[in-house]
Amino acid sequence: MTADAPAIAVLGSINMDLVTTTRRRPAPGETVLGSGFTMVPGGKGSNQAIAARRAGGAVSFLGSVGSDVFAGDLRRVLTAAGVGADRLRTVPGASGIAAIVVDGTGENSIIVVGGANAALTELTSDDLAVIAAADVLLCQLEIPVPTVVAAARHARANGTVVILNPSPVQRLPSQLWDYVDVAVVNSGEAVDLGGALDAVEHLVVTRGAAGATYRGPDGAELSVPGVPVDVVDTTGAGDTFTGALAAAWHRGPRTALQWACAAGALATTRLGASSAIPDRELIEALLGEYTA
Ligand code: RIB
Repeated sequence: MTADAPAIAVLGSINMDLVTTTRRRPAPGETVLGSGFTMVPGGKGSNQAIAARRAGGAVSFLGSVGSDVFAGDLRRVLTAAGVGADRLRTVPGASGIAAIVVDGTGENSIIVVGGANAALTELTSDDLAVIAAADVLLCQLEIPVPTVVAAARHARANGTVVILNPSPVQRLPSQLWDYVDVAVVNSGEAVDLGGALDAVEHLVVTRGAAGATYRGPDGAELSVPGVPVDVVDTTGAGDTFTGALAAAWHRGPRTALQWACAAGALATTRLGASSAIPDRELIEALLGEYTA
């Protein structure tokens, strides 16, 4: 770690987000008229990597794109943000995509089709070296779970802090929790995962506009209020929160949560995932305004 730039390895997904906007999301069997369509690079892994980089981390991304028309833009969004993409492989076939509907309140529904993300079944010796050398390993669950377990185990064995955002929520091998230092979940995921989270040393729960809460070792708790903003689209707000949290984790839970809440709030003020992730200056400005 340089003075204030932790080395962060992000292992995860990268998708092309196919985003439609509409006043109201359709009920089952219903057709509604949309008001717009755009394509924006996304994926929980890529979003979190870019958020961690923009918040000041030195970030390497470990992931997989396909050989299709989306692959070039997906690789470019990482490199343009200053995220190291040496460990991004290309596999034959389709890249991951996400079909996203955003309604008039800014809330979304998302269907992810994994594509190349599903091919991330092996970690190479170079991947393992990046993880061992990092201060933080950050993972989500849009790639095969055994790969996440192998990465987390290697990180734990090498003193790398493991931050897991277990999203999309799913059944996980109990062994994975032995390697996790910090879990970041939203309130719905916290309910779904229930007692599995009890064993985690540091638990961060995002609560949308209400901010976030933290429970640490020995039951230490703290709560950080949300930052009021005008919401356009909540897509990627949780990823932005998590990436910023990873970049600020070395500054302690309270500062990291404040930083992450400000970053996540800013991410809701623009349409799209990667397109809405704020940089360090914007986060500092909002925090300054808010805490003044
Ligand atoms: O968390 C938001 C992300 O979820 C989107 O960018 C989409 O690609 C899905 O992975």
